[in-house]
Amino acid sequence: MNAEIPGYRILKQIGIGAASRIFISVELKTGKKFAVKHVVRNSPDDDPFITQVETEYAVSSKLRHPHLRHSYAIHRVRKLLQVKEVLLVMELVDGLNLEKARPNRLNTFLTIFQKVAQGLHAMHQAGFVHSDIKPTNIMLAPKGVVKIIDFGQSCPLLHRKERIQGTPDYIAPEQVERLPLDQRTDVFNLGATMYWVLTSEKYPTAIRGSDSRGGIALITSEKPVAPNEINDKIPLALSNLVMECCREKAADRPADMVQLGARLAMIQRLWRKQREELRAQRRAIWPTGEPPPAPPALDAIAAAAQENIDTPPEEDR
Ligand SMILES: Nc1ncnc2c1ncn2[C@@H]1O[C@H](COP(=O)(O)OP(=O)(O)O)[C@@H](O)[C@H]1O
Ligand SMILES: [Mg+2]
Repeated sequence: MNAEIPGYRILKQIGIGAASRIFISVELKTGKKFAVKHVVRNSPDDDPFITQVETEYAVSSKLRHPHLRHSYAIHRVRKLLQVKEVLLVMELVDGLNLEKARPNRLNTFLTIFQKVAQGLHAMHQAGFVHSDIKPTNIMLAPKGVVKIIDFGQSCPLLHRKERIQGTPDYIAPEQVERLPLDQRTDVFNLGATMYWVLTSEKYPTAIRGSDSRGGIALITSEKPVAPNEINDKIPLALSNLVMECCREKAADRPADMVQLGARLAMIQRLWRKQREELRAQRRAIWPTGEPPPAPPALDAIAAAAQENIDTPPEEDR
């Protein structure tokens, strides 16, 4: 790349966004590594992308939380007083986004999304809505690091946008209708994100169409199918939570990230308890710890467990 920031050396490209490229860079004074987002204005059509990176800096430089990627500095390259390029210096996340590194274990899934809910709660407490939560805007790194990135569409709570912004597969109805946004918009976007991670299918979000009299109407492409109908290994409580997050009316969704996080934590506790019980049952059936000759059928374990419950101890008989 031919862009430069005084005081930094740009190394290699590590990511690509809608109108940006992301590079690793080194601060010459300290040798510390950062990520740099580079946005170029080739024509007036690119102005919204310049505005977005300015918004991203304004919001994320104010936020300090372990699950929110921080921004340190912004550098503008001007020609004839016109901004031609913007370089945003950010915290480097040495990992992959959720689209590339999708968890395949339920316990990991539940841990990741509780952390995302905590990060979003901190953002809401600071007075902002992210409004573009989706798999490519959540990053995972070693040692359980989870970071929300890309604050280019974020806005103050209750802000009403002039034009539709969002990503079609994750967008909430109030974003399509350009109504005021609040923390429940992030609840929807996060619900649609969890839906994709769990099922590999996109939640059928609403699009803007016209009604029979030529007015504006929300059109939903298909009826959503609950995650546990797509994959019956998904616990019903989790499937229900995802569907509640994606309800059309914001008032029908979990009210905030505290509620959403608490529900995920409860599902995780129950899941871990069930897993422990199943392991204990296996140990009770084969106390030597030796693996059985053939894996037992699950209903055999269930029947044995049932027997233990149905047969009262000697002294109670
Ligand atoms: N701070 C960062 N550290 C490491 N990788 C990043 C960082 N920011 C972005 N990326 C990578 O670049 C991709 C696009 O970045 P993003 O900020 O979402 O750009 P855009 O605003 O253009 O959508 C991300 O999905 C991620 O893979
Ligand atoms: Mg992005």
